[in-house]
Amino acid sequence: MLQLVYVSSANPAAPCPTQDILTVSRRNNARDRISGLLYADGGRFLQALEGPEVAVEAAFTRIQCDPRHRAIVLLSRRIVDRREFGHWEMAHRAPGADAASFLADVQRLTADASPDVRGTFEGLVQTRVLA
Ligand SMILES: Cc1cc2nc3c(=O)[nH]c(=O)nc-3n(C[C@H](O)[C@H](O)[C@H](O)COP(=O)(O)O)c2cc1C
Repeated sequence: MLQLVYVSSANPAAPCPTQDILTVSRRNNARDRISGLLYADGGRFLQALEGPEVAVEAAFTRIQCDPRHRAIVLLSRRIVDRREFGHWEMAHRAPGADAASFLADVQRLTADASPDVRGTFEGLVQTRVLA
């Protein structure tokens, strides 16, 4: 099973409701047996995708072409023996949302991930909360 983690920035020229991404992703990822986590706060995205190699590569190719974000940087690419994210989830932080409870949510959603992946999610959340 392939697991990819990337970070990107929302494209201010193409603002979109996070809900739109969520609806399509839930549908496609269920079909393609992809699990993972998408962090979105209106400015940055951080996403882990895992599942059958061909399906994950195809999803990432579509995602990379999406004009709603830019500056996509692949942070890690690993073969994993088992899913580290049981489902596909999205952690969306609305402006002004309580930082501590949001961090706790992300910690819960990444509890089974490798220390590197967990640290990447927690690190971004902490940086963004302080920004
Ligand atoms: C930050 C971000 C994350 C996305 N995550 C996913 C995803 O996990 N799965 C997916 O199928 N599409 C995802 N998309 C949407 C894809 O870029 C693309 O629009 C979609 O896969 C097209 O699906 P369709 O061919 O069924 O219309 C994401 C888009 C953005 C901007």
